[in-house]
Amino acid sequence: MLHFIEKFSNLKLPFLTTLQICLDLGTTNTRIAIKDKGVVLQEPTYLGLNKKVHEYIFFGQEAKRIVGKVPEFIKIVKPVVNGIISEFDAQVALIQNFIQKGVAPYMVNYPFIKPPLDAIVAVPSIATEIEQKAVEEVLLKLGVRKVFLIERPLATAMGCGFNIFMHKPVFVVDLGGGLIEMAVISGGGIVMQKTLRTAGDHMNKLIYNYIHLKHGLILGEATCEELKVRLLNFTNEEKTMMVRGKSLENGLPKSVKIRTSDIKEALLSQLNLIIDTVKEIIELSPPEVVDEIFNRGIVLTGGLSNISGIDAFFTEELKNIKVSLAENRDLTTISGLMRIGRRKDLLQRLKIQLP
Ligand SMILES: Nc1ncnc2c1ncn2[C@@H]1O[C@H](COP(=O)(O)OP(=O)(O)OP(=O)(O)O)[C@@H](O)[C@H]1O
Ligand SMILES: [Mg+2]
Repeated sequence: MLHFIEKFSNLKLPFLTTLQICLDLGTTNTRIAIKDKGVVLQEPTYLGLNKKVHEYIFFGQEAKRIVGKVPEFIKIVKPVVNGIISEFDAQVALIQNFIQKGVAPYMVNYPFIKPPLDAIVAVPSIATEIEQKAVEEVLLKLGVRKVFLIERPLATAMGCGFNIFMHKPVFVVDLGGGLIEMAVISGGGIVMQKTLRTAGDHMNKLIYNYIHLKHGLILGEATCEELKVRLLNFTNEEKTMMVRGKSLENGLPKSVKIRTSDIKEALLSQLNLIIDTVKEIIELSPPEVVDEIFNRGIVLTGGLSNISGIDAFFTEELKNIKVSLAENRDLTTISGLMRIGRRKDLLQRLKIQLP
């Protein structure tokens, strides 16, 4: 009998509860978490479309792996561009697949009727009302009961471990794939912010252009990203990598050795733009905020903050301002969403009110 009661109390009853999921719909990577369980999925935001039958057949990692290697009838689609949904149907198909992969296995804990889903989703602060609505629509289309949208910099700052409700400004720079979001947050809101649409993905294109011009070589997108990840560092380490591409001269395969210094040169203007924008935010901030920024420093997060020595590079360029790296840099936004989801009052306070 006792055994039965114990078993029964472990069962999750759908009519008593909803399942809360959190989504970070990043340009390069999508993350999904389940309340009380943690992150259940992190996959590239890529799909493969079979154009002949108009059906999506590759999702996430498997789609990213085949970029540049697909036959004519398959098109690789990136449904999110600069943090904004640009291909609605593709995004629905991708999230449906990801929920199936990441969330559905958890549903076995609900043996009778499946509980309705509530979703907490981060949206970039530059998203227009229509773009925010599109995010909500994607999830409603997938059967989600309620969607709570949260401004992404707020979630990211929470994920960095800050109490964003204190009147003590924090400066967070999220160096992502599609956006570089910089925000000073205080008292539960954004005090000052700037966003660059030229982030990690754009850097891959700059590398492509540079190698094209300097070496007369055409490279694939994946190789350009690999060059950035493997060679770029700010620790004075000069690394090299041999790459093979197509010669501009005769269209034949050609190999070239690329160095860290090449990648830095290719990205110099982009790196300067990031630093200049941080300086601009500081210049535009009220004196009390500037004082706090000097006291507390700047926190870097997002995929590009994995570049080794990037904190030292920022420190050197920004003089006197302490720059540090967030913990768990690939998961700060989703961790922040989970922190918000744990507290009903925070969720109500931070959710974006859509008309
Ligand atoms: N070690 C590394 N060195 C350099 N770049 C890296 C490294 N690791 C990841 N990146 C880059 O980080 C970017 C992805 O970052 P992230 O996962 O934070 O983006 P995202 O959250 O999907 O996009 P966004 O938040 O901009 O919408 C990619 O451009 C990737 O190449
Ligand atoms: Mg991101």
